[in-house]
Amino acid sequence: MIIAPSLLAANFGRFAKETERISRSGADWLHLDIMDGNFVPNISFGPQVVKTLRPVTRIFFDVHLMCAKPEILLAPFKEAGANQLTIHVELGEQALTQLLWKVKSMGLKAGLAVNPPTSISLVRPHLDQIDTLLVMTVNPGFGGQSFIYETLPKIQQAAAWRREGGFGYRIEVDGGVNNQTAAECARAGADTLVSGTALLGKRSLRAAVTKMRRLAEKAAANNSGQMVLEAAPVTL
Ligand code: DX5
Ligand code: ZN
Repeated sequence: MIIAPSLLAANFGRFAKETERISRSGADWLHLDIMDGNFVPNISFGPQVVKTLRPVTRIFFDVHLMCAKPEILLAPFKEAGANQLTIHVELGEQALTQLLWKVKSMGLKAGLAVNPPTSISLVRPHLDQIDTLLVMTVNPGFGGQSFIYETLPKIQQAAAWRREGGFGYRIEVDGGVNNQTAAECARAGADTLVSGTALLGKRSLRAAVTKMRRLAEKAAANNSGQMVLEAAPVTL
């Protein structure tokens, strides 16, 4: 189970210190939310900021591009030290194949994200091209929102496709992930959990990360996601 704290929930004036805290907490990835004020109604930070964080830690930089024109940002984020670049399926089929190929050809991991109102079927043609499928569990743009439970069947579907097709992508969830929803996501098949508000607000981040991982791994072991899907297929 990969735990990826989101820097969006940190004090923006203390990014370097918070990055250090995250890297010392036992977390696996650092999730970096890039918002352009166009694809989403908010602006966060760009490659220059990420570049200043790279010397602070060796942790995996999981860069989530909520941006209408990711093509202008791929090289700058590679240079800033990103390890994975995730783009959104809502950008449209035409752009996707080439964007994902570009990310891979730069030697980075490629992620594909799907928003709550978007059909999971749109990611299907790209499953063999990606390292991570990011199922958004809130509408992107802001931290601290409530988990949207209607997204759980998408996680089950992503897990079923992976099982049946022999794919190797990770299934990541992002938005409203706390100890309870982390367990539900893991039970449905998620293996990578992004969490901002629920983790960074804790006095001991190490204890919070360890607890979330333990609860999620326990829930994943139950593996009822598979059973639910098989018992009651959902229309997506
Ligand atoms: C939402 C971002 C998330 C956000 C999650 O637009 O993509 O990564 O940081 O924050 P929480 O865990 O607070 O919902
Ligand atoms: Zn994110």
